[in-house]
Amino acid sequence: MCGIIGYIGKKPATPFLISGLKRLEYRGYDSAGICVLENGALEIIKEEGPIKMLEAELANKILNSTIGIAHTRWATHGRPNKINAHPHFDCQKKIAVVHNGIIENFQALKVLLESEGHKIISETDTEIIAHLIEKFYVDNLEKAVTETIKCLEGTFGLAVMCATEHKIIVARRGSPLILGIGENETFVASDASAIIEHTQQVIYLKDNEIAILSEDGYSLKNINGELLTGETQEIKWTIDEIEKGGFKHFMLKEIFEQPKTIANTLRGRVNNGSIKLSVNLDPKKVDKIIITACGTSWHSALIGKYLIEKIVGLPVEVDYASEFRYRNPIIGPNNLLIVISQSGETADTLAALKEATNCETLGIVNIVGSTISREVKSGIYLHAGPEIGVASTKAFTSQVTSLILLALYFEEQISGEVDRELINELESIPQKIQSILDNAKEIKAISQNFIGSHNSLYLGRGINFPVALEGALKLKEVSYIHAEGYPAAEMKHGPIALIDENMFVVFVVNHGPIFEKVISNIQEVRARGGRIITITDMDNEVIKKLSDYVIMVPSVSEELSPLVNIIPLQLLAYYVADLNGVNVDKPRNLAKSVTVE
Ligand code: AGP
Repeated sequence: MCGIIGYIGKKPATPFLISGLKRLEYRGYDSAGICVLENGALEIIKEEGPIKMLEAELANKILNSTIGIAHTRWATHGRPNKINAHPHFDCQKKIAVVHNGIIENFQALKVLLESEGHKIISETDTEIIAHLIEKFYVDNLEKAVTETIKCLEGTFGLAVMCATEHKIIVARRGSPLILGIGENETFVASDASAIIEHTQQVIYLKDNEIAILSEDGYSLKNINGELLTGETQEIKWTIDEIEKGGFKHFMLKEIFEQPKTIANTLRGRVNNGSIKLSVNLDPKKVDKIIITACGTSWHSALIGKYLIEKIVGLPVEVDYASEFRYRNPIIGPNNLLIVISQSGETADTLAALKEATNCETLGIVNIVGSTISREVKSGIYLHAGPEIGVASTKAFTSQVTSLILLALYFEEQISGEVDRELINELESIPQKIQSILDNAKEIKAISQNFIGSHNSLYLGRGINFPVALEGALKLKEVSYIHAEGYPAAEMKHGPIALIDENMFVVFVVNHGPIFEKVISNIQEVRARGGRIITITDMDNEVIKKLSDYVIMVPSVSEELSPLVNIIPLQLLAYYVADLNGVNVDKPRNLAKSVTVE
């Protein structure tokens, strides 16, 4: 998720570009850059690091241009550095592009362009767009951009300039772009937070729409070049509301982003029922897998164990990174060490990785170019976008999605077979999650009953035991209510002593061979007066009779059930915390990335 800005009008563009980038910094912040048209030539200034680095670089320049585009980056392809920062030039430096999204066919396009003599210098998917426009450009930028986007697969929000035309061409497919309509000036941005202090009149571009911004105003066309009117709307949101997409907190926004972020994790990695991962290791040579991580990432690691052992048949060990690093782990040359980390900077996980001196390593990481992502031999990026809320939500479901892809990929590499039904079902998960989010009000109502509670138990079995752990962690870290995750069958070995009418017990149970066993556990809690919330896909009379509240989720294969079961638990934790008046995005004592031991 990156931030795009553009301006054309009568005033100097640079001050608006910088102030707009600052408004969009929450969308990505590993590098930033601008492009302006100065004396008939495109000038690009870009820097690695936060926007203040770019601002410092610009302080030494006098830029009077009244047209410009700018970008703050969240890396998806290519490390966060100056070369990969946007904007990107074509070969002749006559065309400049900024882009938000993922181009799925960029490798094929790169081969084509290089075969035609184009010199591509960055690792990004974006740069190939600039060279494609160059390929199609004769004397009309709008036409060249239109031809280019017909060749692109994937998502984009684009803003394009060229040295010979005083205009900005913008286009979108799958990544937001809006126009700000001012007095003798037009703005373009990824969201209204960058525009609202200049104008409240905006137009939201729709997919495959193109806008041509010039000093005389703007025009809107579809991909066939037909003129469109475009519906001007008045923005009434505050800047804070816009950054959070209208949600009260980033955590809630990120919970609701999960249909899209899971789709982005899958994007370009499932092709005609086959899994495509840039994992350069041969699983046939692996005799054991060790997964190590911390916190929420450790919970997804536990789920990875169930997935890989069931789908691939390889033994998997899971360990807290903070334990693994100090226990002189026994690692064989044919082991594979997988490290999972949203931030890619967690000190314990990085230290655990360094224990793997003689085996293959693989990272499942969200932040491109993070330390862990650079230290592993292979990797899978989550493509979940920045996770601002301290409590991890969308990163968790993207981690689990990545582990499912990895297990299916290993199965295909080892046996030549792949479970196409499971892959098809996996691709339907985003809309299944959306159906749960559509009922969020039901979960918000249930959360009222947690007020005043001090203790809770989260119980699950099999692949949903780690889901119980994750649900408990969510409640603990944002609402400050003690919550303990436990295997449901283990309750009678001690925790059952805690059960009374003050204890909330959350069960996660799906259809399958152990369904009846969990029913027995629910009865044990009921008999002792415990208050029960059950997350289930079974419309079952016994569960309804025994539970105080039942939250239904769509019925999916066991391997995919964590992706749906965790959603109500994330929402429950969020609503209880918000009712408790907690600063949900920044809970006390916690940091987003624990870079110290
Ligand atoms: C999860 O909600 C917590 N914020 C925390 O447990 C987190 O998962 C843990 O610190 C690991 O972080 P990482 O994924 O960035 O390595």
